[in-house]
Amino acid sequence: MAQPVIEVTGLTKRFGATTAVDDLSFAVPRGEILGLLGPNGAGKTTTLQLLLGLTTPTAGQARVFGLDVQRRRYDVLQRVNFSSAYISLPTNLTGWENLHVFARLYGLRRPRPRVLALAETFGIADLLDRVTGALSSGQLTRLNLCKAFLNDPEVLFLDEPTASLDPDIADVVRETLRAQQRQRGVTIVYTSHNMREVERLCDRVLFLSRGREVASGTPRDVMERARQQTLEDVFIRIARDGRLTDSREAEG
Ligand SMILES: Nc1ncnc2c1ncn2[C@@H]1O[C@H](COP(=O)(O)OP(=O)(O)OP(=O)(O)O)[C@@H](O)[C@H]1O
Ligand SMILES: [Mg+2]
Repeated sequence: MAQPVIEVTGLTKRFGATTAVDDLSFAVPRGEILGLLGPNGAGKTTTLQLLLGLTTPTAGQARVFGLDVQRRRYDVLQRVNFSSAYISLPTNLTGWENLHVFARLYGLRRPRPRVLALAETFGIADLLDRVTGALSSGQLTRLNLCKAFLNDPEVLFLDEPTASLDPDIADVVRETLRAQQRQRGVTIVYTSHNMREVERLCDRVLFLSRGREVASGTPRDVMERARQQTLEDVFIRIARDGRLTDSREAEG
């Protein structure tokens, strides 16, 4: 197999007594859409932050493009991007100013057409002159998504990118992610609590519980192993039992 784009080995992050990510290992090949799933507090956001080098691992390593993200953060960040509903953009700048600053950071020579095209895609072209402090949460999410595509990233880390979006624009986002995967082989790691969306979008899912991997595979695989009809039922089982299969079934 070609070298995976993302490689995580023994990744661990502790915050005091809390182990947010616990000895996690996985690899993502180029062009895959991987869904990082699990209950609130399972360690999804922390894993994404470790992959971006935004926080230092307690143990283990994350590599992107074969580069250690801790040591080669600058080289990695040029070629990746992310969106998160929880990282806020400066509220006193307009949407246009925010995106312009990022476009410059990514070295775009002619940011304007690029920014406009993305704003059209995500339906906020008419809002670019507004300060971001005056945007609704869904509108802010759209702005964050525009930012995430500015540098034509090879890898996208998306933390609940559709959480506050209306169904119409959520569909646009899914279409856009699929198109990016198809046309440019973009690799995507994303989190979501919308299991129907995950079933439709992800090539593979990785379920976390208390920072540990409890299941991974194609959505179909995981549903079959858990003997559940839907990914939502798989999720509920993992959330309640902390494992994929009922312990009584496994023993019987
Ligand atoms: N900066 C921090 N300091 C202390 N504990 C933290 C910190 N960040 C995360 N944690 C803890 O680490 C665990 C994992 O949190 P994380 O945000 O990664 O979960 P998550 O899977 O993204 O959950 P959610 O579905 O709610 O977004 C939680 O128990 C959380 O309280
Ligand atoms: Mg989270």
